Amino acid sequence: PADGLAQTPPMGWSSWNKFAEHIDDKTVRAMADSMVSSGLRDAGYVYVNIDDGWQGTRGPDGQIRPNAKFPDMKALADYVHSRGLKLGIYSSPGLRTCAGFEGSYGHVAQDARTFAAWGIDYLKYDLCSGEWFYADKDSVQRTYAEMGAALRATGRPIVYSLCEYGRFDVGSWGRSVGGHLWRTTGDITDQYGDMAKIGFEHNGNPGDAGPGGWNDPDMLEIGNGGMSDDEYRSHMALWAMSAAPLLMGHDLRLTSAGAKALLENRAVIAIDQDAKGVQGVAVRKQGALEIWRKALADGDVAIAIFNRGNAPSSIGLDAQDIGAGNVRSVRDLWTGSVGTSLAHAYAIPAHGVVMLRIATLS
Ligand code: DGJ
Repeated sequence: PADGLAQTPPMGWSSWNKFAEHIDDKTVRAMADSMVSSGLRDAGYVYVNIDDGWQGTRGPDGQIRPNAKFPDMKALADYVHSRGLKLGIYSSPGLRTCAGFEGSYGHVAQDARTFAAWGIDYLKYDLCSGEWFYADKDSVQRTYAEMGAALRATGRPIVYSLCEYGRFDVGSWGRSVGGHLWRTTGDITDQYGDMAKIGFEHNGNPGDAGPGGWNDPDMLEIGNGGMSDDEYRSHMALWAMSAAPLLMGHDLRLTSAGAKALLENRAVIAIDQDAKGVQGVAVRKQGALEIWRKALADGDVAIAIFNRGNAPSSIGLDAQDIGAGNVRSVRDLWTGSVGTSLAHAYAIPAHGVVMLRIATLS
């Protein structure tokens, strides 16, 4: 959409991966506080997104009310805004959300107006319940277009996240219904196998991504404890190389030093947030190794060498991999070391990754 939103992939936090429906006002405020005190906000993470589980019942006028765990949504939005952050919320087009709460069915425009009045900045719209009305592409498109138009009609800038699991080639029409990001898969879990399957194979069609509209391979699991440091490093690198939204999914009060180093690595965030908005792709596969490339706005090239195998491995890069002949500088984005030429061989730990930013002579 031509509304100027999401010119780079949205960054922030969402309640679902860690808290599921066990989320409340107090926890959301605590996450906002942590986002500021940890430095994550200043690193670019600004959306604080309440996922499923905030909804109560509708009032006599049909207006959706939060449940008892969220006493005052407007006050919560004010709190989050006062910390330089933005507040996201969640609904479904059906009668019920995935977790069984009240959906927007029959109240689409009204809910959009309510969200805008509360000061909501981001809506995730999750295709749950009522399979009967979204069994085909037209119905799904119509359903998402209806909320997209309703959000636009409020006049408030609200980032619109489509969650229909990558069905019906959503990347080809997500923008046209007002979407700024669209899920490419089912749910991620905090396991390397699931994360890698999504990140390497189900991260959407690169041609669909760009300023204003992004493939969304789902939220981050970094910090939740189910993967090794090398695996989480691959998670962060895959999302950054894919220009994916970076929505953290752990308890921000308990961020380990290892998770913090990954999530706050500004050089890696800069690859994700690069203004050119290119989604990187694999340019060479060799055994368990994959070399990915992403062109950057200033002419630099980001390279990630992933090792999907269970044993350490090594590989050298050549001009074809980086798409250019003459290397000017090579920065290792995890160690920060800078050299003037490519190394003879890069050692990649099992399930790990080396990430480089390469400046070339044009
Ligand atoms: C399914 C989505 O994929 C999840 O991210 C989460 O939003 C749940 N639904 C909530 O019920």
